[in-house]
Amino acid sequence: MSKKKPSKEWLQIQNKDPYVKQARESHYRSRAVYKLQEIDQKDKLIKPNTCVVDLGSAPGSWSQYASERIGANGRVVAVDILPMEPINGVLFMQGDFTDETVENAFLEQIGTQGADLVISDMAPNLSGIRVSDQARSMGMAELIYDFCHQALKPGGDLLIKLFEGAGTSEYRQLLRERFGKVMTRKPGASRDKSREFYILARSYKL
Ligand SMILES: C[S@@+](CC[C@H](N)C(=O)[O-])C[C@H]1O[C@@H](n2cnc3c(N)ncnc32)[C@H](O)[C@@H]1O
Repeated sequence: MSKKKPSKEWLQIQNKDPYVKQARESHYRSRAVYKLQEIDQKDKLIKPNTCVVDLGSAPGSWSQYASERIGANGRVVAVDILPMEPINGVLFMQGDFTDETVENAFLEQIGTQGADLVISDMAPNLSGIRVSDQARSMGMAELIYDFCHQALKPGGDLLIKLFEGAGTSEYRQLLRERFGKVMTRKPGASRDKSREFYILARSYKL
């Protein structure tokens, strides 16, 4: 797969970004880790000895962080359409999550015990056409909601990235039907001008 050359503007933003600097100086593979870390510190999300499922995991900073937090007796099961360098304690599967065969194989990896937490930083490739990008993003979010019914243990939690726009209020409403509490999070490392935000849905009900 050919890689697009980053633009000059993008490189300037990256070089000035304190979270990029912090990630480069640490062992984390992406600045995205500081979004998860902030939410985890505020909401006490990732607990030792649990099973965490990471959707759209590459290059791997969320999986790195989660595997550190769960310790040696926990499990991280991750999936991405792109390859991901191995991480100790993380079971990675490469494939397109929207493909039913891939999703079923991934569910098998999780096993019948189920997951305590699903984290999704997944975002579809953007075309630049806002209406269709938003529709694709919400389509993916619905798929993740359905996936939770098969993957989450009762009492489990979901952290999912969404983009402000059509369908997000309805999605919150949908989550409220099956989760005890639904909250919005916009961590400091999530750029102000980005429409991205996270929903944290807690206490999954069967
Ligand atoms: C923002 S990145 C995730 C960064 C990650 N949380 C980290 O900390 O390194 C979003 C990821 O979603 C993945 N993705 C997008 N669509 C996907 C799909 N249909 N199936 C699996 N992964 C997908 C992309 O390949 C990309 O690696």
